[in-house]
Amino acid sequence: MQRIFSGIQPSGVPTLGNYLGAIRNWVALQADHECIWCVVDLHAITVWQDPAELARNTREMAATLIACGVDPSKHVLFAQSMVSAHARLAWIFNCVARLGWLNRMTQFKDKAGKDREAASAGLYVYPNLMAADIHAYHATRVPVGDDQKQHLELANDIAEKFNHDYGVEFFPHIEPLILGPAARVMSLRDGSKKMSKSDPSDQSRINLTDDADAIALKIRRAKTDPDPLPGDVSGFEGRPEARNLVGIYAALSGGTAQGVLDEFAGSQFGPFKQKLTDLVVSSITPIGAETSRLLGDVTVLDAALRDGAIRASAIAEPIVSEAERLVGFLKV
Ligand code: AMP
Ligand code: TRP
Repeated sequence: MQRIFSGIQPSGVPTLGNYLGAIRNWVALQADHECIWCVVDLHAITVWQDPAELARNTREMAATLIACGVDPSKHVLFAQSMVSAHARLAWIFNCVARLGWLNRMTQFKDKAGKDREAASAGLYVYPNLMAADIHAYHATRVPVGDDQKQHLELANDIAEKFNHDYGVEFFPHIEPLILGPAARVMSLRDGSKKMSKSDPSDQSRINLTDDADAIALKIRRAKTDPDPLPGDVSGFEGRPEARNLVGIYAALSGGTAQGVLDEFAGSQFGPFKQKLTDLVVSSITPIGAETSRLLGDVTVLDAALRDGAIRASAIAEPIVSEAERLVGFLKV
């Protein structure tokens, strides 16, 4: 059976973008894979996180994943900082990856913004830690949203260079799994930006904890254009907001964008948004309710994470120890 690894940052409340681009696919993959799911708190602190909020967000993210259907008993769920193998392998990869490779990473450029000098060194080497997350488990398949593709290519470059430099076939090639019609959900306020839990505007996203009223208001206010919905997907040209809302509808109804247009061609946004609201509310609100229930008893949640970390360590420890030995670290 192929081993799967994926991670999600506890840098805020997870959004509909996280759900459609990642979490929902994770749940489906559990049926026929061995899966390791990680709340990546080491990655989160590459930008400032208030300590109390980070701890709260880490629990909330774990609870949300379980509420969405991640199974912490059949698979492995834990927080990244609980397993030291990640940081140890990341350091080795910091010494394998080349500055030229990191300079090409578009996420760094986006997140660092205009003032690159003020960005943390951690943000710059973020992709090396991500490569370590995956390779510490010899995982070969990695489900992510479209925005992470470049980081996975880098993870393969790092593995190849490590294998070449140390004359081994140790780290396997990994395959990105970018699934579904909503691998890239865009902001409700600007169809050219991805929906993000760290966007300053709460109106730009649907949080998995939003109630029906909040969802209805955000969809009603979502940016659109004055034209009716097109009859064909080619009509989305120059209309990113229309494409996005139809994509969300398609993903949640289990159909395709063309299938949605077959139903709504020529319709104004008003009635379409009403139907979309009903669909989002019925899909999302049960997740919010279950998340609150799980957060009601953190001792159970913490025990699940602790158990996940023990099982994660049992897999990663021999692999990372062997990498350290290959590098020449003394094992006495
Ligand atoms: P992050 O929120 O950056 O920790 O991302 C966690 C996972 O959600 C990754 O697999 C991302 O690719 C995915 N993801 C984040 N935002 C979006 C989005 N707007 N659309 C689709 N997938 C997303
Ligand atoms: N960088 C990913 C994101 O922001 C999260 C992540 C960290 C990840 N480590 C990973 C995803 C390993 C897949 C595999 O979306």
